[in-house]
Parts: sequence; structure tokens; C-alpha cells
Amino acid sequence: MISKKMESAINDQIAAEFYSAHIYLAMAAYLESIDLPGFAHWMRIQFQEEDFHAHKMFDYVIERDGRAELKGFGAPPKEWTSPLDVFESAYKHEQKVTSLINNLVDIALSEKDHASFIFLQWFVNEQVEEEASAKAIIQQLKMIGDSRAGLFQIDRELAQRIFTPPVAAE
Ligand SMILES: [Fe+2]
Ligand SMILES: [Fe+2]
Repeated sequence: MISKKMESAINDQIAAEFYSAHIYLAMAAYLESIDLPGFAHWMRIQFQEEDFHAHKMFDYVIERDGRAELKGFGAPPKEWTSPLDVFESAYKHEQKVTSLINNLVDIALSEKDHASFIFLQWFVNEQVEEEASAKAIIQQLKMIGDSRAGLFQIDRELAQRIFTPPVAAE
């Protein structure tokens, strides 16, 4: 059975993952409002990924005979100044989430909870990917500068993203 300390820390992270989902959906709404449906689509997929993360943790707590809890979270931001501003704040947000995940790993180690330690490795890897994908789009946006044609091109590319739930996930 999972310790109370680990259970509570993972329940906090469930709220953080749902909050992330809402940030990305709020970003999708902003991107739709400035007529960038491909960018908005990318963010909707991001929403699905974060929702998946929250459920993965929810299921894990239950599997370890703990009690999954929904602790709630505040409203996400609403306004950004440009697509670059959106992706820069997404990148900063993911860096914050990485530190939250690292914290959970520290708790798993201090609780000598090897199962949680192993479970969390998936999230450690996922964060590497999350930071890299936000960074890559920031770089593309910086490269095109003020070019509307460039923005249109990136929008078309981001429209292609599809959500694929990881096969290895139980
Ligand atoms: Fe996440
Ligand atoms: Fe994320």
C-alpha cells in the first residue's frame, strides 16, 4: 500500500496535470481567437496529453490501494500577446512541471517507495520531451520573425499533430 505522504504528493500532481490541461485549452482558445487553427489544434492535443497524465496518476494511486483525490485548481491565464508568447509561457510552465516531477521522485526515494520511483520514470522522460517540443516551436517562431507566410506554414504543420496514447502505459 502507498504511504500517505506519497499518496498526497501524487494527488497534488493530479491537480497540477489537470491544471496543465486547462492552461493548454486556454491557449487553444486564444490561438483560435487570432485565427491560428493549426496552433490551436496542437494545443488541444496537448490538453489530451495532460488529461492522460492526470488519469495515469489517478489509476496508479488506486492500483496501489490508495485513495485518488481531486484537489482542484485555479483558472488558467486567458491572454497572451503572440504565438511566441504562448509557446514561451508553455515552455516555462513545462520547466515548472519538471521540477514538480523531480520533487515527486525525491519523495519516492525518501519514502523508499521503489514502485513509485519506477512509475515516475515515465514522467521524467515525458518532461524531457515536453520541454523539447515547446522549445522546437519557439525556435521555428523566432526563425520566421514577422513573416505572415511563415506563420501560415507553421500553422499548417501543427494542424497535423495527432494524439497517440503511449502503448506502454497501463
Ligand atoms: Fe503533464
Ligand atoms: Fe506537459
